[in-house]
Amino acid sequence: MGRFDEVIERKGTKSVKWDMVDHFYQDPEVLPMWVADMDFKTPAPVTEALTERVRHGIFGYTVPDDNTKRIITDWLSKRHGWDIEQDWIRYSPGVIPSLHMIIQSLTEVGDHILIQTPVYPPFYTVIKDHGRHVVKNSLIFNEERYHIDFDDFEEKIKENDVKMFILCNPHNPVGRVWTKEELNKMADICNRHEVLIVSDEIHADLVFKDHTHVPMASLDHHTSQNTITCMSPTKTFNLAGMQVSYVVTADKKMREVLDKQFNNQGMFLLNTLGITALEAAYQHGEEWLEDLTDLLESHYHYVSDRLHKETDKIKVIPPEGTYLLWLDCRELNFEQKDLKRFMQKEAKVGLNDGASFGEEGNGFMRLNIAAPKPIIEDGVDRIVRAVNRLQ
Ligand SMILES: Cc1ncc(COP(=O)(O)O)c(C=O)c1O
Repeated sequence: MGRFDEVIERKGTKSVKWDMVDHFYQDPEVLPMWVADMDFKTPAPVTEALTERVRHGIFGYTVPDDNTKRIITDWLSKRHGWDIEQDWIRYSPGVIPSLHMIIQSLTEVGDHILIQTPVYPPFYTVIKDHGRHVVKNSLIFNEERYHIDFDDFEEKIKENDVKMFILCNPHNPVGRVWTKEELNKMADICNRHEVLIVSDEIHADLVFKDHTHVPMASLDHHTSQNTITCMSPTKTFNLAGMQVSYVVTADKKMREVLDKQFNNQGMFLLNTLGITALEAAYQHGEEWLEDLTDLLESHYHYVSDRLHKETDKIKVIPPEGTYLLWLDCRELNFEQKDLKRFMQKEAKVGLNDGASFGEEGNGFMRLNIAAPKPIIEDGVDRIVRAVNRLQ
């Protein structure tokens, strides 16, 4: 049996994805294919390192050390060709907590912050929760692929005196891995208008063949000084429950502001097991990751081919990375609330509502393919059967 073939019972593990099905979908029969974690075991060396750490038996205050930083810088250099200084790294329990802290410390109440919609729903809340305003640069969908409207990007920045731009790269939910050319254009506009770039690169390691993740801050010196990057091994190695992530900031003054904010929130240590997991994953997880990305790409083709051949009503937007498929369901001709209802009550699959990513997501749903093949097959069977019952 291959390392990703085993269907592992997750119910009863306090899993958000599996144990909250009833809460979110009001039906225990619904197959969860929503929240972004995987139904795969983390690489064996990570479990072994954790087991050894647990056997030690003492879980007092723990602090990442120089070795942790070296492991992170090695990973970024090896995987992404991005050479950073160890001193640029700070830690946080998650990218979302980091975004909250960055917004609170580096913008003012009433400031405008730009995002590219449809996008990961917390991007809206981290802005609004602190009395800042969301400015939307809607992505353009040309019926095949999503693109950036650069004129609108610059206009919106000028019109609203935008102070910060939160980039999602690779992009959740549309699956784009932004090219160097696209990144350069965005960086150039932000640098010229003094817009601080916050780059959420949590999906950076989950990129398919023929695509390359380019960290925004790796473009050039000016962009590096004007960018704060949020990263984590949690999506890559299925460690979300470990609550470990880091923030990379080249600019010294910005780092000082962030240090103050992080300290004010009592965030200067990390979860003991989170540190162990991060170190083991980055040191020994690469081969596993290569296999994983191949598998995810094959799952994408499987879902896309079957939905195309067997329903012709649901199209998968070709992803360049992530394990989240953006399904174009517009040909089903449902109002969004009926589309949601249909997936939940008729197909009995738990997907993310496209509209939760912004109004551009009307007619779309998001499906998570990071699960063993039998789960993916079951999910597609359910959707195909329900669509075919409509006809
Ligand atoms: C783009 C993006 N950012 C952040 C997160 C969550 O990050 P964390 O769990 O580290 O807060 C997710 C999770 O799906 C995500 O897709």
